[in-house]
Amino acid sequence: MMSIISKAMADSSISLVDKELRASHAGETGAVWIYRGALTADFLVSVVAGLWAKLSPKTQSRKEEEKQKTEGSVCSFASEHLATEKNHLDIFENHMPPFRGSYMLLLWMVAGFMTGFLPRILGRNWFFYTIYCVEYFVDEHYEEQCGLLESLDPTPFDVLEKFRQCQSDEQGHRDEAYNAMTTPPTRAMKLWGNMVGKGSAIAVVMAKKI
Ligand SMILES: [Fe+2]
Ligand SMILES: [Fe+2]
Repeated sequence: MMSIISKAMADSSISLVDKELRASHAGETGAVWIYRGALTADFLVSVVAGLWAKLSPKTQSRKEEEKQKTEGSVCSFASEHLATEKNHLDIFENHMPPFRGSYMLLLWMVAGFMTGFLPRILGRNWFFYTIYCVEYFVDEHYEEQCGLLESLDPTPFDVLEKFRQCQSDEQGHRDEAYNAMTTPPTRAMKLWGNMVGKGSAIAVVMAKKI
């Protein structure tokens, strides 16, 4: 009787870990595509700005150069973050216990791409604020997951340790994005940030199941 109970408990632990791994793997996939979307948009914006500078008087292009200096580079920020997110994805794909991946990975890729692409088109502060909102959500989500993993018996220490490692990177990303902003978020940005947070929460629920 005891062995049946303990087997049932072990089975439910395995299925819980499987769900959490699937959700975070989907999230890290989306994160990689957020930065790919941002880098694509940044390239397009720089091409248009270059053309505009050629057509407009020198004062205009100088103003644009000044603005770029004070607002910081999206390209280096996004490239560095992309490298970290690729590393997170590698942890989930090659250094975690086996789990079933989400059937909707393509959707998480497209959603991630648009979450990076659209705000970068709207402006640097839009982009940095979006990253702040996404990483704020991701940090809280990892915290919740780590709490769950800690409560399991036996605690899957290797998984927990790797979740904590990713979480600490995301906290760095969140703070870096916040510090890169040159103005406080506008009402429109806050509304968008709210949507991004809600969307991420829905994505987590879906990715756990599908
Ligand atoms: Fe990540
Ligand atoms: Fe991140």
